[in-house]
Amino acid sequence: MTGSFAHVETLDELALIASGCVMCSLAPSRTNVVFGSGSPDAAVMIVGEGPGQQEDEQGLPFVGRSGQLLDTLLSEIGLQRADVYIANVVKCRPPRNRDPRPDEIDACKGYLRRQIELIDPIVVVTLGNFSTKLLLRTEVGITKMRGVAYAWWGRYLVPTFHPAAALRGGERVKNDIRADLALVRAVIDGRLPSEIREEGGESAARQGGVSDHDDSQLDLFGDAP
Ligand code: URA
Repeated sequence: MTGSFAHVETLDELALIASGCVMCSLAPSRTNVVFGSGSPDAAVMIVGEGPGQQEDEQGLPFVGRSGQLLDTLLSEIGLQRADVYIANVVKCRPPRNRDPRPDEIDACKGYLRRQIELIDPIVVVTLGNFSTKLLLRTEVGITKMRGVAYAWWGRYLVPTFHPAAALRGGERVKNDIRADLALVRAVIDGRLPSEIREEGGESAARQGGVSDHDDSQLDLFGDAP
């Protein structure tokens, strides 16, 4: 099970705790804990899956090719990396970039939860299936979930494709990410267009069908923050 970090008052303090974390089996093989980076007061918090090789080596999220594309797409909505906060579901690199396992997510999710609470962003952007399914507690894939701003724990959540999918999938996927980031821009500008379907996290979870065999991954925000 994850630790509770409700008593931790700052991101720096939380990062320090994470830097020595041995709560899961990813700890021995990591080079660095990739805690997260960006503005502690960001209106936009971006959540990826987990560090890759370059992130593990540098201790920073999204520093590889996916990160470069993410920077470009963010700049198109007028945001620089320093304006946002970027973190991952798991803070240590899974060997050979395999998917994080449920026990690893379970061990790590307290960090993400406290990061979101401390940063208190207006909008959380989940990149790809992994973080979207975890935070929205759904089994529905990103292709169906994206394109909507969800009302989520007192803020908004906008799911979109992972930039790695855009690197593989080309312009069509990039344009979908662009459309989702335009939604992010609208949300932080306080103009939620009426055509945007708003759904509560709970109803989104219901629509998506909460998996009952995968609860360990799905209860990140299972109780009110
Ligand atoms: N992919 C992710 O999901 N996170 C990173 O930090 C890098 C690549």
